[in-house]
Amino acid sequence: MHKILITGGAGFIGSHLTRLFVRKYPGYTIVNLDKLTYAGNLENLRDIENEPNYHFIKGDITDLNLLRNLFSAHKFTAVLHCAAESHVDRSITDPLAFINTNVLGTASLLQAAKEEWAGDYENKIFYHISTDEVYGSLGETGFFTETTAYDPRSPYSASKASSDHIVRAFYHTYKMPVKISNCSNNYGPYHFPEKLIPLCIHNIINNKPLPIYGKGENVRDWLFVEDHVRAIDVIFHNGKIGETYNIGGHNEWTNINLVKELCRQMDDKLGRPKGSSEKLITYVTDRAGHDLRYAIDASKLKKELGWMPSLQFEEGISKTIDWYLANTEWLKHVTSGEYQHYYTEQYHKR
Ligand code: NAD
Ligand code: DAU
Repeated sequence: MHKILITGGAGFIGSHLTRLFVRKYPGYTIVNLDKLTYAGNLENLRDIENEPNYHFIKGDITDLNLLRNLFSAHKFTAVLHCAAESHVDRSITDPLAFINTNVLGTASLLQAAKEEWAGDYENKIFYHISTDEVYGSLGETGFFTETTAYDPRSPYSASKASSDHIVRAFYHTYKMPVKISNCSNNYGPYHFPEKLIPLCIHNIINNKPLPIYGKGENVRDWLFVEDHVRAIDVIFHNGKIGETYNIGGHNEWTNINLVKELCRQMDDKLGRPKGSSEKLITYVTDRAGHDLRYAIDASKLKKELGWMPSLQFEEGISKTIDWYLANTEWLKHVTSGEYQHYYTEQYHKR
């Protein structure tokens, strides 16, 4: 029976992870610690907020005293560490926010766990959720494996790479029982509309331009978020201590082809004439240092732990669009206030 601290559980991936663990493991106690930044939203967890094994605490992972008090009060046996600043474009504008949360926040969590566990690592796990972006950018061929050398190129990916290194340092130096997974691009419900897929869905609904950076030739490897959190569940319970697992959908799309697929499906679902959403595509100034291609080799996870993605992309995208069309209130809430300011700053200069 675990008492798990999930960090960042009110965000996109964190909310799916929290839901999965709260529902699937009623005997576990789940405490969700989240600062509720612009990206954290308790509406993402409405359906489980009254479950007896779920508790929410608003707080910052860089606050070491808070973490010490929480570890001491709750006697956590495990950490599922999701909290992060996660958007590459924001990291270009404000790198220190990323270094603060992603680097210092992760180090503070490790320190609090180390102090509380005090060398008694029986039945303990510190699981760090990371990204494929730590490996840098691929050319037209090849895949990232668990042994690919780190080569992060944005402030976001450098901060995540740094946090991965610190997690491994605690494993090697203090024998902290850590696990790390590095996943490719996720998509699905509750995805904040600053990221490509939900941003385009939101803009298509509102007949607004679809901003494509550069020529739209950059490639990402997309995985349905529920498949990512299923992989985390499998690694958490069956993965080896000290190991890293890559998670990916083997599902590469150029940005332009992906957006065209979104346009095609949305014209259909909204009953608009074929081709009308594609007319919204607008090429804008490229992202600084834009990584060309990410692609994950997930064969270690498949072979050792038997995980496989469950959804084909066209089906996952269809489910995702349906969710956004059925949850326009959620979209309205998250795109008011701070979002309007961000959008103007981010896109009007391009
Ligand atoms: P997100 O931005 O949607 O959510 C991040 C959450 O962390 C929010 O709820 C936010 O309020 C919280 N948070 C931020 N700073 C905090 C702080 N200082 N203290 C406490 N809480 C804080 O992010 P996401 O897309 O769900 O990503 C979750 C994790 O998965 C991140 O570590 C990210 O690097 C990793 N990841 C994301 C993807 C992806 O495609 N989204 C892919 C691979 C890995
Ligand atoms: O690979 C995993 C990573 O995927 C995660 O670690 C990050 O947290 C997550 O944000 C995501 O990073 P990306 O930068 O790949 O995702 P984003 O949705 O921002 O962009 C996807 C691609 O689309 C990328 O090549 C940039 C491009 N893009 C993005 C936006 C927001 C555009 O062309 N136009 C846009 O407006």
